[in-house]
Amino acid sequence: MIELDDIHKSFRLGERQVPALRGLSLRVEPGEVFGIIGASGAGKSTLLRVINLLERPDSGAVRVAGAELLGLDEAGLRAARQRIGMIFQHFNLLSSKTVAQNVAWPLVIAGRPVAEIVPRVAELLARVGLSAHADKYPTQLSGGQKQRVGIARALATKPQVLLCDEATSALDPETTRDVLDLLAEINQELGLTIVLITHEMEVVRRVCDRVAVLEAGRIVEQGEVARVFLHPREAVTRRFVLEAEHVDEQAQLDDYTHVPGRLLRLTFRGERTYEPLLGEVARRAGIDFGILSGRIARIKTVPYGQLTISVTGGDLAAAEALLSERGVTVEVLR
Ligand SMILES: Nc1ncnc2c1ncn2[C@@H]1O[C@H](COP(=O)(O)OP(=O)(O)OP(=O)(O)O)[C@@H](O)[C@H]1O
Ligand SMILES: [Mg+2]
Repeated sequence: MIELDDIHKSFRLGERQVPALRGLSLRVEPGEVFGIIGASGAGKSTLLRVINLLERPDSGAVRVAGAELLGLDEAGLRAARQRIGMIFQHFNLLSSKTVAQNVAWPLVIAGRPVAEIVPRVAELLARVGLSAHADKYPTQLSGGQKQRVGIARALATKPQVLLCDEATSALDPETTRDVLDLLAEINQELGLTIVLITHEMEVVRRVCDRVAVLEAGRIVEQGEVARVFLHPREAVTRRFVLEAEHVDEQAQLDDYTHVPGRLLRLTFRGERTYEPLLGEVARRAGIDFGILSGRIARIKTVPYGQLTISVTGGDLAAAEALLSERGVTVEVLR
């Protein structure tokens, strides 16, 4: 659905050229929710704006839904942009227009007849749960409602792709969940491909199928969300994941200096998360264990658990083998 090939983009800052994207390639499949995560200044917004050519790259290729965007003339690009919706952190609504007029706006611009616009707007407002607020103005809405207007407006031209730039960063956690659930519903029901940039892991964990980690204008790692978050391959990703989870791995290891035995981190996925595996393994391998830290969470709908344990006595190798046999990933920390 989206293919970026070897994209370079720099900005002029006085005499200097500031590189924002440095040879970035990316492929997003039809119907997936693709997250892009990275620190401030990594190039996330620039990358997203390259996808609809709000930002023209210095070099590289941009293909969306089969069209090579850099080869299009003005009219071609306008048509292509109607297939790409976008929502923003600060909603970007027109304050002098009502909710219904905001949602209608892209259709008005595209010159659609009123007879088509009116029912379409009603349908869109119903989809985002704002039918009762059609005649309000943006200042009369909560943040979550404003973003719902933003989503309805982005869907007006029936796009195939929805780009979300920190769409929930201005919202409280509960409203964030509501808006993310709405995006997930739209993805499922309309088959819309969604690219979502964020600096929040929780956002990626809740809705994304795959994720790419951006650093200094390059993608350092990408893959299925569970794989990247639970088993990062690159040091940068590992650091980023731990930081975002507020885990200071070194400080933890320092805290456990006086804990005897080996330290293991166990990762459980799926229904395994709820099984009483540890007790059974401890009995069979004759080990004793203490739990040092742990948590259970979800990636999209799949539960996972991570436990740090100390192990003394018994047959450690046998315990590791038993755990691996049951699909638990074992990392030896010390
Ligand atoms: N219009 C611009 N003019 C000059 N430099 C820019 C411009 N837009 C972005 N940059 C620079 O490009 C780099 C990437 O910026 P970008 O906005 O893409 O980062 P980001 O990952 O979205 O950051 P944030 O999480 O803070 O939104 C930064 O160094 C930024 O200062
Ligand atoms: Mg940004």
